[in-house]
Amino acid sequence: MGTGVFITLEGVEGSGKTTQAGILADALRAQGHRVTVTHEPGGTRAGEAIRGIFLDPKVSLDVATELLLVLADRAQHVREKLRPAVAAGEIVISDRYSDSTVAYQGYGRGFDLKLLGELNHLASEGMLPDVTIVLDCPAETGLARTRARARGNERGPDRFEGERIEFHRRVRDGFLTIARNEPGRVTVIDSTRERAAVSADILDAVAGMLKRR
Ligand code: TYD
Repeated sequence: MGTGVFITLEGVEGSGKTTQAGILADALRAQGHRVTVTHEPGGTRAGEAIRGIFLDPKVSLDVATELLLVLADRAQHVREKLRPAVAAGEIVISDRYSDSTVAYQGYGRGFDLKLLGELNHLASEGMLPDVTIVLDCPAETGLARTRARARGNERGPDRFEGERIEFHRRVRDGFLTIARNEPGRVTVIDSTRERAAVSADILDAVAGMLKRR
């Protein structure tokens, strides 16, 4: 069995990753690929338990605890789900992965980027995405979307949605900096446009990567 492919979708709150992950998965399945869609934090039983603590604004978390929780989640996700699925030849799409840690805990919270690189390496066993899509939109646009959604759900904002706008702006800039530093892996797509235009660009980026392999 051939080795599969690992795709990650990244971006600020409300950038449309989750919807686009589903659309991309359907398009790839229609082309005959076997596809697994997963997400962080979460994606495993342990991960979903970690996610509950991680996002709950009523649970007080030091920033170091927050960082270690998301790394613990990743360690389990890589070993239990991501690596086995890629080894079985599947296309794996993860809604968030290591770049979120660099953007949120690094650029957002201020953890040292070199340290985060080492911790991400430990948590992920060095597993890197074949391609990463950053869905880019202004922090304000994304947050307005998630806040509207939260009102519809009658759930309050989670730990990150409740952060100040400056935090979310640093996160967005963080993703854009990651993309500038690694243009071979990371493609930035403007997600303020219509859903279909965004999904067509994502599919193009993924098709280009599949062709180059
Ligand atoms: P989620 O509900 O999945 O939000 P979204 O739909 O925006 O992906 O919540 C995940 C939150 O966790 C999100 O606010 C970003 C944050 N996060 C980090 O801070 N660091 C990380 O490494 C990861 C994976 C997520």
